[in-house]
Amino acid sequence: MMKSFALATVLALSASLSSAASPKLMLRQNNPDDLMIFNCVDMPEVCTNMCWGAYCRSIGTGLTYDKPDASEKRRRRRAAGCLVSGGNRCSTRKGYDAGYQCDEYPFASTVGRGASDERVNRCVPAGQNSRQGGTINSFYQSAYCGGGPCDFTASFGNPGAAGVSYCNAYATPEDCDVDDDNQVVGPGGTQDPTEDETADDGTDETDPGEEEPTTEDKKLRKIKKRSKTFVGRYRTAVGTVIDVPGGAYIGQRAFYVEPVNATLWAEPAAALMGVQEMVDNLVVKETKVVEEIETWNAPAPAPAV
Ligand SMILES: *[C@@H]1O[C@H](CO)[C@@H](O)[C@H](O)[C@H]1NC(C)=O
Repeated sequence: MMKSFALATVLALSASLSSAASPKLMLRQNNPDDLMIFNCVDMPEVCTNMCWGAYCRSIGTGLTYDKPDASEKRRRRRAAGCLVSGGNRCSTRKGYDAGYQCDEYPFASTVGRGASDERVNRCVPAGQNSRQGGTINSFYQSAYCGGGPCDFTASFGNPGAAGVSYCNAYATPEDCDVDDDNQVVGPGGTQDPTEDETADDGTDETDPGEEEPTTEDKKLRKIKKRSKTFVGRYRTAVGTVIDVPGGAYIGQRAFYVEPVNATLWAEPAAALMGVQEMVDNLVVKETKVVEEIETWNAPAPAPAV
């Protein structure tokens, strides 16, 4: 029984805005609490999928966790192209090696708030999908989301980590033109998956938001509008590099997760952990933006053709 419940929530809006923050940037800032940072070192393939959808397909990084029920999540998995004729796209039935799961962006537990309402998918190693699931669910249960619903902004920590593609799309938009058979745009729509479209081998229900958070607070946070064209790259106090469409200000806080037992988090068996078990092995921590590294004033890269 190693996993003690350790979901620490973090609170307290630090009202103190650093004097180093430019007024312009502060106007552009989104809700200061809303950054859900994924550590791409832990989930390179998952980051690749998220960044491809967010940047190369114009889905963006603004997401709303709307607490959909299981049927709605299945419809979204189908819309993302994970549930296809003959079974789950990433299942052994469809010719994939065991140990892969179909990762959707936006997550089935969310709807995007960006320019495109596409849903995309990529087959990723199951352990990486589980780490993403743990990160997302910990955030849903954090003080910021309060169990949901909530609006938040996905943020890709260490976007240049080994094995990560597309997360540097603002710096190098041409990355989006790379041929990548594993990136699939779903058919969209709101139809229920048919029996033929499910694998029923454990690969269909892989969404991070499967278990509803228990926290009572249902307050929907109000989000200010971001500029559509401004993107900044920043370093957090814990050294993570993140790109923030719309910009951040020095002192802006951001959430990330850290495993309680790092060995467990890193080992392949993480793929076999249930969502709650995964969440129990994570602590939600708060950090803040301490340095602006680079900024771009450009629209998101055009979708690849
Ligand atoms: C951490 O996880 C590993 C792998 O499951 C386990 O062998 C070890 O006992 C755990 N450590 C603690 C302190 O619980």
